[in-house]
This record gives sequence, structure tokens and C-alpha cells, in this order.
Amino acid sequence: MIATVTLNPSLDKTLTVHGLVIDEVNRWTTFRHDPGGKGINVSRVVHELGGETIAYSFIGGDDGEIMGRLLRREGVTFDFVPIRQAIRSNIIITDIKTRQQTRIGAPGPRISQVELQRLKSKLRNIESKPGFIVFAGSVPPGIPDDIYRELIEKAKARKIKTALDTEGIWLKKGVEAKPNLIKPNVREAEQLLGMELKDEKAIIKAIYYFLNQGIEVVTISRGKDGLLAATRGQAVKAVPPRVKIKSSVGAGDSAVAGLVLKLSQGASLEEACRLAVAAGTATVLTPGTRLCHRQDVEKLLPMVRIELVTP
Ligand SMILES: Nc1ncnc2c1ncn2[C@@H]1O[C@H](COP(=O)(O)OP(=O)(O)OP(=O)(O)O)[C@@H](O)[C@H]1O
Ligand SMILES: [Mg+2]
Repeated sequence: MIATVTLNPSLDKTLTVHGLVIDEVNRWTTFRHDPGGKGINVSRVVHELGGETIAYSFIGGDDGEIMGRLLRREGVTFDFVPIRQAIRSNIIITDIKTRQQTRIGAPGPRISQVELQRLKSKLRNIESKPGFIVFAGSVPPGIPDDIYRELIEKAKARKIKTALDTEGIWLKKGVEAKPNLIKPNVREAEQLLGMELKDEKAIIKAIYYFLNQGIEVVTISRGKDGLLAATRGQAVKAVPPRVKIKSSVGAGDSAVAGLVLKLSQGASLEEACRLAVAAGTATVLTPGTRLCHRQDVEKLLPMVRIELVTP
């Protein structure tokens, strides 16, 4: 069982146009709604891959209702705290002609003290002990920057494993609690370390730096080049086959889902990295905000190249 926590959920609205013209009336050719927010995406991928999951988050407004309905239809179990303000809604415009993608993000709703307390109380009362709690994504206004540190410390005190996938100040403060697993991408890791990671050697060095801080599983993902990961015992490089990219939205979240699902089942780091890369790459094959399909993941699994890395 994988629990996820999404402090800033969204309803993503993806539309495609054929040649976007600014300052003109455009017509969309396809339009869809998808539940968004990184933890929720992790839950959706765990569910797609046949794992058990529960998503914790906030819900509010008409878009919140649509998000809940879509998750129910997908069969993803969730437990959301109702909030006064509406959840955010991201708009993604894909131009089929130029293959350009324009994203219009929204600030999150302001979460009140009481609303945050209600979410904390749900997390305190998680019944069946999850294999991992995954904390993922940005933190909306009203919630302190060090929230992940607090939530990770609390989970660890109850012997629940934690994974953190966020960026900037939230990642910086969150890692102080030494989550069991982190998966920044190269850019996020560079920001966290305040230095450039220009090649594989530099990335491996960065991974060992985090391991020495007390994080058990450190993964740094690198888009089309797959990922590098290590525990105290071994280091692994996992590389996907070359694929035709439709949209990379949610690739990282899918990789996190693959990692925690396998590790929670007691699989090796190699097997976890294989599934992580297959799931991430399968998500790249689907358009817009759509995540991976299980058949694609299964097809890609044997195509992922795994190498042992010597530090
Ligand atoms: N262009 C690509 N081709 C093949 N696989 C890809 C590509 N981009 C991403 N992936 C797959 O997805 C995984 C995660 O991708 P990435 O490093 O881009 O994560 P991220 O930056 O955290 O993404 P997100 O925006 O979802 O947070 C990679 O390890 C790889 O398996
Ligand atoms: Mg990411």
C-alpha cells in the first residue's frame, strides 16, 4: 500500500489547437480534464500498475468536484479534506502544428490553519501502515515552507517509510528530515546543491553526498537518459530505449510510483529502477497530461538497460 500526499492538487485542462494565433479566435480540436498534482499522479500510476494506494489531499470548488469524479472513475482511492477555496486549475495548450506547448499555471488556493490540521489528523490516523508515504509537489499559500520536514519526521517516528519529490525551498527543508527516498531531476538536484551537475560522474557524486546525509535511496532522474540511483550497498544506472515523445508531463511522478511500488514489495534497487524508468518512459508516450498505460510499461520493462555503477 502506497499513500500519497498532495498539498497543491489541480484539475488540469488540456486542449489542442491547430496553429495557435494570439489575439485571434482559435478553435480547439480536443479538450480534456485530468486530475493533477504530483502525489495524485503517483497514486494514479501505482493504481494503473496494479498496486494499492490512497491519495490524501484537499478538495474545493467546482473543479475539485470534477477532480474527485475523475479519480473515482479511474478507481483511485482518496481521502480529501474539503477546503473553502477552489483547487487550482492548470491550462495546457498544445499546438499540433508547431508542437509547442503553452502552460498557464495557477497559484494554489489559500489553505487555512484548520484545513491543514484536518489533513495532519488524517495522516496521523492512517490505518493500515503504508509501505511508503510519498510527499510530492509544490506547497500552496498558507502552508509553511518546512511542512514536508514536519510531516516526514512524524511519519518516520511511526516507522513509516517516506519519499519526497518536490523542488526549491520545500525540497531543501524537507531533506533535513532525511526522507527514506528522494528523486529530484538534475535541475532540482543542482538547485539543492547550489552547483552544476554536468556529467554522470558529478551526478553520482551528488547521490553519494545525499546518501551520506542519511537518505537511504537516492535517485536523480535525467529525462531521456533515464536515471541514476544508489543505496549504501549499490549504485545503478537505468536507461530507457529511444522513444517518440508525445508529452513528458508526469514522467517524473510515474518514475516515483515505479520506485516506491517495487521497493515496498521488497524488490531490489535494480528492479525498482527498471520499473521506474519503464513507467516514466511510458508516460512520455501519452499525449498531454495523460499518464502511462500498463501495457506500454510492460512492453518497455525488458527494454530498459540496467548497468551497475561503481562509485
Ligand atoms: N524524453 C524522454 N524519453 C524517454 N524517457 C523519458 C523522457 N523524459 C522522461 N523520461 C522518463 O521519465 C523518467 C523521469 O523523467 P524526468 O527526469 O524528466 O522527471 P521529472 O523532471 O521529475 O518530471 P516531472 O516533470 O514529471 O516532475 C526518466 O527517468 C525516464 O525514464
Ligand atoms: Mg519531477
